[in-house]
Amino acid sequence: MIPVNEPQLGERELEYLAECVRTGWVSSAGRFIETFEEAWAGYCGMKYGVAVSNGTVALEVAVGCLQLEPGDEVIMPSFTIISCATAVLYNQGIPVLVDSDPVTWCMDPRQVESKITARTRAIMPVHIYSHPADMDPLRDIAERHGVVIIEDAAEAHGAEYLSGCEGGIPTWRRCGGLGDLSAFSFYANKLITTGEGGMVLTNSPEHAAKARALRNLCFRPERRFYHTELGHNFRLTNLQAALGLAQFERFGEIVARKRHIGETYTEALQELPSIRLQTIQPWARSVYWMYGLVLEESTSMDAKELAQRLEAQGVETRPFFLGMHEQPILLELGIVRGERYPVAERLSRQGLYLPSGLALTDEQQKHVIHAVRSLLA
Ligand SMILES: Cc1ncc(COP(=O)(O)O)c(C=O)c1O
Repeated sequence: MIPVNEPQLGERELEYLAECVRTGWVSSAGRFIETFEEAWAGYCGMKYGVAVSNGTVALEVAVGCLQLEPGDEVIMPSFTIISCATAVLYNQGIPVLVDSDPVTWCMDPRQVESKITARTRAIMPVHIYSHPADMDPLRDIAERHGVVIIEDAAEAHGAEYLSGCEGGIPTWRRCGGLGDLSAFSFYANKLITTGEGGMVLTNSPEHAAKARALRNLCFRPERRFYHTELGHNFRLTNLQAALGLAQFERFGEIVARKRHIGETYTEALQELPSIRLQTIQPWARSVYWMYGLVLEESTSMDAKELAQRLEAQGVETRPFFLGMHEQPILLELGIVRGERYPVAERLSRQGLYLPSGLALTDEQQKHVIHAVRSLLA
């Protein structure tokens, strides 16, 4: 079976891990944590990085920095992972949903303004499968209404967005550096993995201080074990940061390999009339985190059936997200009430992603392409 993802770890990771073991710095202090935070924040064009234990809590901490009042609202796409919704719910807020753009599969900025209310505090765009959300119109809306942007960049390490021009030269800016706060995941299928891990980025010293407090039980500086606020233990370990830093040091190669895999799939599959691919916009540079395809409604198969047929040919796949408006728990809690988001619904029924991990060999990719083409031609 060709796995949907397999990470690629090397000698440098072993060397850094061995240093942690030799020196005893295995917990949440040690040189790798701060170095990794600074390196990743700097790469994304942000001042501060706060490493946490996964991408889900990175979102929760980012929202936590806003100190929501109960009932405050955060606008997000329905087509995303439930981590976005839980980040808001665990902070006493309410997720407010919009549909996706049918071409980029990311939050449709044209649908955001009508969802702004007096309670809106933030907009949370998600760079789906590492295609950047269209940030300029979102930033414009956020500025006009005085709300914050929290980017969910969990899947978008190294992806770039074209944001205006300086001196006639187009300005490409990295995902994770386009909002007020951003959240990354370093789960095993991400371009950088720490096993489990995440990071919050921001330019605001206040938000950075709040994020650091929230990840570490809100300890107070004046006296140990004295608390005026409730926090969490969301710390990343030095062992995990050692892995992250080792991969950061060869991140250029990682991005180049992912782009090669993505572009090879596009070339081989773009002519198939029975599928739609995520169309990379002229203002976007994807890193092809996972390579997705969406079956046309007119095709006799849905994504579940295609996944079964591919599995029979030794190709593992994953279904797309199920939209937040269709999640039984959010319906049960009354967070969503029979809303319909047709693009999100189509993506979740008809979409799946193909093996795209860094360890995928050219031979394996050829096999995947052959299997998809033979089933869909
Ligand atoms: C868009 C998005 N946001 C958040 C997360 C949560 O990250 P984690 O799995 O590290 O908790 C993921 C996970 O892959 C994701 O895809």
